[in-house]
Amino acid sequence: MSDDDKNAGKRRSQAWFGGTDKDAFLHRSWAKNNGLPDDAFDGRPVIGICNTFSELTPCNAHFRELVEHIKRGVIEAGGTPFEFPVFSCGETMLRPTAMLFRNLASMDVEEAIRGNPLDGVILMGGCDKTTPSLLMGAASCDIPAAVVSGGPMLNGRFRGRTLGSGTDVWKFSEEVRSGRMSEEDFMAAESGMSRSPGHCMTMGTASTMASMSEALGVTLAGNAAYPAVDARRNRLARLTGRRIVSMVEEDLRLSRVLTREAFENAIRVNGAIGGSTNAVIHLLAIAGRIGVDLDLTDWDRFGRDVPCLVNLMPSGEYLMEDFCYAGGLPAVMGKIRDLLHEDAFTISGRTMGEQLNAAECFNDDVIRDRDNPVFHQGGIAVLQGNLAPQGAVLKPSAASPHLMQHTGRAVVFESIEDFKARVDDPDLDVDENSVLVLKGAGPQGYPGMAEVGNLPLPRKVLEKGVRDMVRVSDARMSGTAFGTVVLHVAPESAAGGPLALVEEGDIIELDVEARRLALKIDEAELERRRARWQPQPHAMQGGYQSLYVERVLQADTGADLDFLVGCRGAEVPRESH
Ligand code: FES
Repeated sequence: MSDDDKNAGKRRSQAWFGGTDKDAFLHRSWAKNNGLPDDAFDGRPVIGICNTFSELTPCNAHFRELVEHIKRGVIEAGGTPFEFPVFSCGETMLRPTAMLFRNLASMDVEEAIRGNPLDGVILMGGCDKTTPSLLMGAASCDIPAAVVSGGPMLNGRFRGRTLGSGTDVWKFSEEVRSGRMSEEDFMAAESGMSRSPGHCMTMGTASTMASMSEALGVTLAGNAAYPAVDARRNRLARLTGRRIVSMVEEDLRLSRVLTREAFENAIRVNGAIGGSTNAVIHLLAIAGRIGVDLDLTDWDRFGRDVPCLVNLMPSGEYLMEDFCYAGGLPAVMGKIRDLLHEDAFTISGRTMGEQLNAAECFNDDVIRDRDNPVFHQGGIAVLQGNLAPQGAVLKPSAASPHLMQHTGRAVVFESIEDFKARVDDPDLDVDENSVLVLKGAGPQGYPGMAEVGNLPLPRKVLEKGVRDMVRVSDARMSGTAFGTVVLHVAPESAAGGPLALVEEGDIIELDVEARRLALKIDEAELERRRARWQPQPHAMQGGYQSLYVERVLQADTGADLDFLVGCRGAEVPRESH
């Protein structure tokens, strides 16, 4: 008897499908209505394919086709595939913000994996929140798991120019507000921006999280960059389908791959790609689920000196299609190989170092060399000070060099609605040296920590030709956005953090080099304001959103729900009845 045969009897799926009793009859008989033959239940690996397809998540709407390639791979390798749907967090449609539902989706993933006869699982992610929700849920179960990303859209094109998802929306929107672009032209650009299946093709959060997955070692090499419509995406899906079957046979669980070393690799890679600030929150949350001790300061420690090599919007010029042709993520990792833990294990069954032996770069303007970076410091800056005792973040590669050290007068908005109502008021006392402060946009306050931190500039500042100002908030920002924007201030204002105490006209100092964010008022005055501060009751009355507001953690630890942190394993305490 081979080792595989011996293991077959111990597989999770056999607790459902093995044996001759009534329960085994029930499990097999109903599954057979899918046309499954007897040998589908003979102890071969049963593979779940966790599909975030939804027409309401346009970035994942092509997953019906993609999943067929995964299934073929599973069957070719001798496994039995079962596709199942989970909550799909679509960035563009979900209100008030997709992030509010990331943790809900992760619960769906976790319970679906644990409660079903699965020996391994493929996680199909694409749009921003789908990838972290899948990894969080799977990490809490710790069974063999691999990610297949949906891939980016083709480059946007409009009237002879290249358009980047999100990034050019923010630019065009400011052009319309400043009177430099007509509304007709603005609307005409819509169809050219999103012209194929796939997710945002800038180095936004979706591309970042696909890259993070690859850097963590939970995908096969090449996963991040192949466009959704590239046949190599389908080939990769098929190969991952084959590979997950072997992973079950090898009992290669997520905890073997998602190690401290893997997260350090991912942080460094995020610096090299100029990745999204959202990766900070998502990786902290994933680490919390698998039980790796990672904290916010690790982002500065491991990312600070990593040069940004990837010349993609929003920090640079190109898009994911160009990134693919230039060699994709392996080419980037090959260029910072000496900074990585090469012995980190990957789902391929090889170490990261072994995988990188095949890395090659084919365009060193898209993926720059270390001596010619896009930015010398590509990582995320973690700021601290009396305005953010638990930290805040800023993406230097998306900020303006002349604002990296700036002191200005606060112009304060109590909520995003307050901001929208007053930002273009000609009487608003603001100029380009002011610091725009937004409260009430954190995990509890919004709720869900909306991507509103890149506040549009006041019209009267825009009309002077100014395109960036310092902005400070407890919000997030889209990975496709840019600007000198301080985000994720913790504790948030709704939780009584010092941000809640900022008043109009206060002086705020930002010093990115020193990693400082300071409110220049004395401690006694801060205490007086703190004594007067009253929490606002939240508007949610019951349901998931109420649970979220009551149990969500702050941004500096990943904004997970407190009771979801940790790995609970895949054991099912009781049989079905
Ligand atoms: Fe889905 Fe950008 S909106 S990836």
